[in-house]
This record gives sequence, C-alpha cells and structure tokens, in this order.
Amino acid sequence: MEIHQVSPDDASRVRAVLAVSNAVSEADSPWLPPHTEQSMVGAMRHGWDGEPAVRFLATDGDDAIGAAAYSTSTWDNTHLAWLEVSVHPDHRRRGLGSEILAELLTRASAEGRTSVGIDGWESDSTRAFAASHGFDLKAVEVMRRQVMADVEWPRVTSLHEAARVAAGDYELVRRVGRTPEEELPSLAVMTAAINDAPTDDLDIEDEVFTPTRIQDYESAQLGRGRELLRVLARHRDTGELAGQTVVVVEQERPELGEQHDTSVVAKHRGHRLGLLLKTEMLGWLRETQPRLVSLDTWNAESNDHMIAVNEQLGYRVVGRSLAFQRSL
Ligand SMILES: CC(C)(COP(=O)(O)OP(=O)(O)OC[C@H]1O[C@@H](n2cnc3c(N)ncnc32)[C@H](O)[C@@H]1OP(=O)(O)O)[C@@H](O)C(=O)NCCC(=O)NCCS
Repeated sequence: MEIHQVSPDDASRVRAVLAVSNAVSEADSPWLPPHTEQSMVGAMRHGWDGEPAVRFLATDGDDAIGAAAYSTSTWDNTHLAWLEVSVHPDHRRRGLGSEILAELLTRASAEGRTSVGIDGWESDSTRAFAASHGFDLKAVEVMRRQVMADVEWPRVTSLHEAARVAAGDYELVRRVGRTPEEELPSLAVMTAAINDAPTDDLDIEDEVFTPTRIQDYESAQLGRGRELLRVLARHRDTGELAGQTVVVVEQERPELGEQHDTSVVAKHRGHRLGLLLKTEMLGWLRETQPRLVSLDTWNAESNDHMIAVNEQLGYRVVGRSLAFQRSL
C-alpha cells in the first residue's frame, strides 16, 4: 500500500478520495448524503474555518483503498491532532487501517502533539479498531435530522409565539452571508458561548474566537459554495448580542441544509432564546429556501438543553458517532 498526500487541485486523486469516502459512507452511514466532487474539493480547500485537514489517499496499484485526514488548529488545542481513517469496505481486516493510522501518528509525534483523537459511527469495527490502538471512548455525538416536509408548523408557530413572550427584552436580526466588519468583535465574544456546550471526557481546551477567525469561518463556508444564514438575538436595552443560530445551505444541492452553532450567552439564558432563535430560523428557511428538504444537526449526547429544543422541533436521531482520544 502507498499513502499519498492529496491536494484539492489534484483532480484524479480527489476523485479517488471521493470514491473511497462515498463507498465508506454507503457502508457505515447510509443516511449521509454522498459527497459530490464540488463538495469534496470545497471541504479539502476550506475546511470548517480555513484550516482544512491534510488529506491522504491510500492505494494498492491502481486501486484506491483508503483515505485519511489529519486536522489541527493554530487557534487553540495545539496539543491535539484529530485523525480520520477509513478503509474501503472491500479491503477491511487486512491491517490497512492500522497502517494508515500509524502514518498519521508518526506525523502527530513529529509535530510534537501530545494527544490524538479519532471518531467513527457507532459500530463493532469502530469500537474494536479504536480499542486495539489504545484509544478510549471520551464522547458521543448524535446526529439528528429535521425533514422539512414533516415539520408541524402550527406547533412551531405556537412555540415561537410563547418564546417571543418570554424573550420580550430581545430583538431578532436575520443576516445572510458575511458579518459586517464593525460587528465582528461582538460576534466573536458571543460565539465563545459555544464553549459551554458539553465536551464530555475529551481532553480539549476552550476554542478561541477572534474577529479574524469569524471571518475565516464565513469565508470558508461561502468558499465551499454554501449560503450562510444567521439569526442573532440582541438585548434591546444594552444592544448586547445574546445568542445566535447559524445554518448553511448547499448551493449545488439546495435540498441539503446543515445546522452549525446555536448558542446563548450565559447571562442571557433562561428566556427561551434557544427556542426563539431556532423557530425563527425554521420559519425563515421555509420562506426563503423552498427546495430545502432536510436540516442536519450534531449535538453531544449529553447536551440536554439543546436536544430538548431540537426534539420539540421534530428532529429525529439518524446516527451516533463515537469520539476517542489517547495521549501520545
Ligand atoms: C475502522 C476501520 C478504519 C478499520 O480498518 P481495517 O483496515 O479493517 O482495520 P485493521 O485491519 O487495521 O484492524 C485492526 C484491528 O482493529 C480491530 N477491528 C477492526 N475492524 C473490526 C471489526 N469489524 N470487528 C472486530 N474488530 C475489528 C481488530 O482488532 C483488528 O485487528 P485484527 O484484524 O488483527 O483482529 C474501517 O472499518 C473503516 O473504515 N470504518 C469506517 C471509518 C471509521 O469508523 N473510522 C474510524 C474508526 S475509530
């Protein structure tokens, strides 16, 4: 087996990574929409916020048999490298996953990382592979999906109205695309509220949010060909940003939406802002994204408050993802 680093400009290797990744997804998480070449290139070029993973393709002669990704951040958590290893379903249990992992661990050691993480959809192979390489289960993330055609609108409307009453001190702002420059500092402060979301037993530090990082996130999402929709809650008296919810919709496949951060700043909690923001977003999507079919969201399984909101809106579980970590 040979392992090659893959640049997003290398169309033939990108297609090979795409083929492996979609075969793996079909086998282990058929609920995920397959990547297209465009969505794969976008992810490879931009990542979540402009620090894309280093990508690898594993080949045996002309056959693409595995793929991997190596992610780090320069903003925080510099002790950590997050790894992805996948082996084509036709080539498993031959030690290839272990060989690819070894390559990533060598890289992490060479960079002086002291901790590594890896995740996978819940299955015997995920658990056994992680355990056989000394990783411990540290967190469970659950993916839920909202199907727009199944939304009970009268219920959403009444939840929205009730939340409006409870959150009378706040106004809502809808924003498409980039945040105006003058608002970036306050948005960065508010975004840090996401650090209050549970991370269970993972050895990770709070994430650092600066105006530049917010811009990087927005540039990355727009660069990936996604429409960026944000609803903000602003405290009427002080003008302080109290909370937000962010959704992206693929332009190539406008039927696919993804929920990103939803957070309410600690001192503004207890006024149903979470529910208000999410019901506002849902109504906005209904008005402006008629082709949207589904909206996917991820939460730590232990995030009771956010999950309670999502369940009220009709999100249903589609998969559980296990996150493992070990020291290096
Ligand atoms: C997990 C994955 C990468 C393993 O790839 P692989 O090439 O089959 O792994 P290896 O052959 O190197 O397996 C190493 C060890 O892991 C364990 N293991 C792997 N798959 C297993 C399975 N289905 N059942 C039980 N044990 C398994 C075994 O201990 C195995 O050693 P053994 O074959 O000598 O018993 C592959 O199943 C995959 O791509 N899954 C989807 C992506 C994913 O979830 N990746 C992250 C997992 S933490």
